[in-house]
Amino acid sequence: MFENTQKLEHLAVIMDGNRRWAKLNRKSVKEGHEVGGERLSDLMEWCIDFEIKYLTVYAFSLDNWKRDIDEINDIMSLLIDFLNRKMDKLNSNGIRIKIIGVNDRLSEEIVRKIKKVENDTKANNKLIVNIAFNYTGRREIIDVAKIVAKNFKNDLIRLEDIDEKLFSNNLYYGGNVPDPDLVIRTSGEYRISNFLLWEIANSELFFTDVYWPDFSKVLLEEIINNFKKRERRYGGTIKR
Ligand code: FPP
Repeated sequence: MFENTQKLEHLAVIMDGNRRWAKLNRKSVKEGHEVGGERLSDLMEWCIDFEIKYLTVYAFSLDNWKRDIDEINDIMSLLIDFLNRKMDKLNSNGIRIKIIGVNDRLSEEIVRKIKKVENDTKANNKLIVNIAFNYTGRREIIDVAKIVAKNFKNDLIRLEDIDEKLFSNNLYYGGNVPDPDLVIRTSGEYRISNFLLWEIANSELFFTDVYWPDFSKVLLEEIINNFKKRERRYGGTIKR
């Protein structure tokens, strides 16, 4: 199916453009996010088809609290509704869900739901999906730094123990997840917007003009083919 050069084990996606899609299609903002949610559900299945092991998506940033309160509430309800409606499908497809982010300002209902869905899918291992919700990359780095500082203060680690591996093992998604190989951002914006700042140090980036609700399996396959042809040097030289 693909010219198999680069291995794509971990895909990360900034699902952008729901509101512009809604405006273009004369739908409400809420409907834009709902269709975006359905596309996320499709994406999980496509990742399984393309033998991707980890998927990390950006669903709600800590910066999104600047939006209109009705829109924020709609996105919160969408998360709960999404997790309720998709539970059976997640389990039958072997999908494990992890929500990465912080609990600040989240309702008790959401926090409870997150814990439950993480617990109910924890035995699945075909695809691990990390949903970044109430997340920013800088906050994650600060939180890891706090864990490291606390462990140092309590004499659990020495200064020499602080390295990239120790840092990576304390990220929100927890030990042993490989860094994303590829980050896709939809909707024609060329920014990272505080997403996975530590994790994407060596990731390949792909930007498409397509709005998230219009993302498709054909486009994903094109992007993967493009990625597979890239030369990843990690600052070194490729031997020919
Ligand atoms: C970006 O489009 C999208 C969001 C901030 C919300 C992302 C949510 C989804 C894709 C739905 C799936 C989420 C859950 C909770 C299951 P935008 O609103 O910034 O659109 P714009 O760039 O056109 O303004």
